Amino acid sequence: MKAQVFVIFGASGDLAKRKLIPAIYELHREQLLPEHFALLGVSRTEFSDEAFRKEAFAENEFIKGEKDPAFAEKLFYEPIDTLQPEGYEKVKSRLAELDGAQQTDGNYLFYLSTPPSLYTKIPAFLAKVGLNKTGEGQVRRLIIEKPFGYDLESAVELNRSLQQYFPEEAIYRIDHYLGKETVQNLLVTRFANGIFEPLWNRNYIHHIEVTSAEHIGVGSRGGYYDSSGALRDMVQNHLLQIVAHIAMEPPINADAESIRGEKLKLFKSLRPIQRSEVAQYAVRGQYLEAKVRGEELKGYREEEGVPEGSMTETYAALKFYIDNWRWAGVPFYIRTGKRLPTKATEVVVYFKSPPHHLFQSHENMMNVNNQLIIRIQPDEGLLLQFGMKVPGAGFVVKNVEMDFHYSDLTDADVPDAYERLILDAMKGDATLYSRGDSVEEAWRFVDPILKAWKEDKNIKLFGYPAGTWGPEVADALIEGERVSWRNPCRNLTDSQN
Ligand code: BG6
Repeated sequence: MKAQVFVIFGASGDLAKRKLIPAIYELHREQLLPEHFALLGVSRTEFSDEAFRKEAFAENEFIKGEKDPAFAEKLFYEPIDTLQPEGYEKVKSRLAELDGAQQTDGNYLFYLSTPPSLYTKIPAFLAKVGLNKTGEGQVRRLIIEKPFGYDLESAVELNRSLQQYFPEEAIYRIDHYLGKETVQNLLVTRFANGIFEPLWNRNYIHHIEVTSAEHIGVGSRGGYYDSSGALRDMVQNHLLQIVAHIAMEPPINADAESIRGEKLKLFKSLRPIQRSEVAQYAVRGQYLEAKVRGEELKGYREEEGVPEGSMTETYAALKFYIDNWRWAGVPFYIRTGKRLPTKATEVVVYFKSPPHHLFQSHENMMNVNNQLIIRIQPDEGLLLQFGMKVPGAGFVVKNVEMDFHYSDLTDADVPDAYERLILDAMKGDATLYSRGDSVEEAWRFVDPILKAWKEDKNIKLFGYPAGTWGPEVADALIEGERVSWRNPCRNLTDSQN
């Protein structure tokens, strides 16, 4: 990996403190950082290097375990007003100074941990002082966090603006779900085994479900969340990325362009939900106040920062199809929501019944269904359900489970998504990052739904009491005999609330 400076814009902010610096420190601890490495924090707050080291590292409560003082020495800070071009000359000379002192060779990774309104401004200011330009053998990369636009139009505009200053190969768009081990493992499950892929199509699969439930409400993020809602916040990115991993065609190899090329094809084959179908196939909900396990939970409209009478959805469930050879006729159901009964993300691959029923008692039929459940989080793992004979007379069949837990594979904690993603970007591996064209395609799919929800007053926003599985009408999305959403069951401890 190349020597480099990791530059964080918005270094005094919450994300840097909670996620980025702890992840980089973890990489240091595992000796995965390049030998010549420096981290330059850039923000408006007037810190000295020493004050930044203290705040971001020595006194950072999100960094667990012993703290190696050698890491602190690699941290530097430059206070600037990121909205004014003047500051960028200062950043440039500071970087040159670091190159000299730390032998970082002019390789920079710029991480924009800032409000999205700066995603177009900062790259333009960087370009103005030439910090986007590479010399022989050098790399200059840019990482941005979602949201990548607010709708299709603004997403296209954002891409165009970024690509003016940095080539697409140098732009890394983080979707932290792609950094989750289990999301990556979807590819391994499918393509490193011979037993799943032959069944992975319309001939054997009845339907696929993806649920991403959260128990928390919007908390103090009401202001941001109200301009977003569940469809923009979770579906356009995280859930559709999971769908892409489940449904894409096998890539020819595991490099960034092959995988991302297949994902793009998949996004292009999502059948848009037509305006006239939105009310039926795109259910939206908003949580209402309720008492859950003795605790009074506020309704969404009572949360701090949420305007009175807000129509923003905190729950979304969709039914849609993928128009290609493999998935013709197979419904996909995806849902996400805040203030649901638990925190869990999982995929259910629901297989068709056998074509001919030998053991056809009503009870047997009720008892058996073949499901592959992929637990993305928590208790990461894979569960396969199938029917077995109950010992004794006759043929009584019962559903049994084969259950794999990640914890069986390793004692180590599953690494944090940011750790993996940051390391990949430093190496120049974009496999787990969203490419601009895919982001646009994903917007193309959700955009008509957002427009219909906004413009058509006849499309209802359903209330659901906090702590329940969302509006009951969403249950009717899943059609078919004996088929309903699988609700991940997991008891929350207080710390998981
Ligand atoms: C973020 C959303 O992208 O993902 C949040 O903005 C959501 O609203 C979070 O809570 C969920 O991530 P995770 O990793 O906790 O499932």
